[in-house]
Amino acid sequence: MCGIVGYVGSRRAVDVLLQGLRRLEYRGYDSAGIALLTGDAIDVVKSSGKLENVEHLIDGSREKLAASTCGIGHTRWATHGKPTTQNAHPHRTGHVVLVHNGIIENYQDIRRRLVARGHKPESETDSELFGFLVLEEMDKGRSLCDAVRAGFLQIEGSCSVVVMSEKEPGMIVGVRNGSPLVAAHDPDGGMFIASDAQPLVEYTKEVIFLENGDLVAGSRTGLKISSLADGNVIARPVTRIDWSAERMDKQGWPHYMLKEIYEQPAALSETLNGILDRATGEPFVLADQKGLQTLKNATRISLVACGSSWHAALLGKYWLERWGRIAVDVELASEFRYRDPVLQEGTVIVGISQSGETADTLAVMREAKTRGIQTAAITNVRGSTISREADSVFYTCAGPEIGVAATKTFLSQLLVQLIWAGWLGKTRGALNPARTASLFDELIRLPHLLEDYMRPDGVMAQTVRSTAKALLGIKGFFFIGRGYSFPVALEGALKLKEIAYIHAEGYAAGELKHGPIAMIDGNMAVVVLAPQDSWREKTVSNLEEVKARGARIVGVGGGNDSSLKELCDFWIPLPVSTKHKIDEGLLPVVLAPVVQLLSYETALLKGTDVDKPRNLAKSVTVE
Ligand code: M6R
Repeated sequence: MCGIVGYVGSRRAVDVLLQGLRRLEYRGYDSAGIALLTGDAIDVVKSSGKLENVEHLIDGSREKLAASTCGIGHTRWATHGKPTTQNAHPHRTGHVVLVHNGIIENYQDIRRRLVARGHKPESETDSELFGFLVLEEMDKGRSLCDAVRAGFLQIEGSCSVVVMSEKEPGMIVGVRNGSPLVAAHDPDGGMFIASDAQPLVEYTKEVIFLENGDLVAGSRTGLKISSLADGNVIARPVTRIDWSAERMDKQGWPHYMLKEIYEQPAALSETLNGILDRATGEPFVLADQKGLQTLKNATRISLVACGSSWHAALLGKYWLERWGRIAVDVELASEFRYRDPVLQEGTVIVGISQSGETADTLAVMREAKTRGIQTAAITNVRGSTISREADSVFYTCAGPEIGVAATKTFLSQLLVQLIWAGWLGKTRGALNPARTASLFDELIRLPHLLEDYMRPDGVMAQTVRSTAKALLGIKGFFFIGRGYSFPVALEGALKLKEIAYIHAEGYAAGELKHGPIAMIDGNMAVVVLAPQDSWREKTVSNLEEVKARGARIVGVGGGNDSSLKELCDFWIPLPVSTKHKIDEGLLPVVLAPVVQLLSYETALLKGTDVDKPRNLAKSVTVE
């Protein structure tokens, strides 16, 4: 979704803005732009397409722009109006220049009124209209800050704006009312503002997550937060971010996604460290105790999520029901919120969201709160809206995930739910303490197992690479699995679609014969996830059915499963077997990296934009 960066202080603003926007590229965008104050004038440079286009445009005037120490920048993910240069931000209206995230819902009404008053909007966006409102208010003699406040009170919808004016050079005013905004003092004097903390961490680790209804005004002397509604000054807490700028760089990897796939053992270790006391084997020592009580007292858990997080939730259901012995529903947030569901007392709604900003998931949690239902969140981003609005929050510690395709956050979400399941089982008397302890022991060993398995020059990586190469040009893919492998099959298909743009379906292996098998011919590949678990024999029967119809079979199975290997055209062995066992419930943790890597290698061969796939955004803050 759209990204905002703003800066005023003593640094070279062009560098802060461009570097900041690069840090936000992962969110997905289709045009970009910056506005810089030089003297009393603001120059706007913007373009459709990538940020490099903006950099090329400013090449000729870098020297002049280098003097600027105040500006705003934006990456736009089109909602209202095509991704053209004209629709790109920043938008200029007379002496007012602004960037905007989110949606102005009453934009048609506002446009009609502005046009009737003689204004001539040039773009198709809702964003530009806000500039006219500020201009009108400043023409009445209001300061930039008061004009932004008065203008904002005329719009409806969930959005944020950051505004400058040539009439008040050196002042930046931002409002958060929906789309996130983070502000920070520049330790050298001045202020940063951005739509998330990532652009700020190389300058400061102390950030302020603005709340809805906050207005922030910044200048060389610092920043002040006040209430949008009444102008009263507000003190917001400072949050310390532990992400370093180095962790957000590619560090030699060709893509963030590949780096993040290989960071999974570390993401698991970090997440474990955050919630499991190694010495006592007790989980949640460091986590939110209120959340534990909520879970312990729940009569039912509804896991609510979208995309990969929804797949993680599907696995959560298997574990929480098997070990925790609690009834679990899994809901797609975008469906749940409009379904008028029956929510009984004792139900806990758990929003799972790596970004913590997904609009649909957030809306469900808000609705639950209005109905008096307890909410909890699993998220990777401290200070995100979901983390702040949930009654309790459990963090995955995967570190920043920049690639649009979720990988290490997905695996970390699995781990938190596994620990929940073990802990709930013990607490509710469904698992004896020794069984819980052995489950946790296995979890502690998982990162090591994965690290050995996931060497870039190892057998898995090599067989995945050669399989992707051999199947390049195939018409489509099915990913099939049963039991714990079924949600991983869904995740494999999603990954392939989103980064390689190849049609892929994830199916419960037993469902193929109820329809989709009609699609199978020699130009289709079927990735069969068949580890040596309780479902293996049944899955192999389903494999035979598609093999008989000519499909190219990619088998992913136990390291010593030679009879399965013989049935497959391509074979990717797992690091576990009948000799080296792990609990079958933990197999998704070793299966997921295989399907992630297969998608990555296929996308690489196709030459797609792996980290920023077309039409997608990292955090989906619109419905
Ligand atoms: O930030 P969230 O986990 O709430 O995001 C949910 C989905 O938008 C996300 O998982 C999406 O499907 C990813 N592109 C998957 O790789």
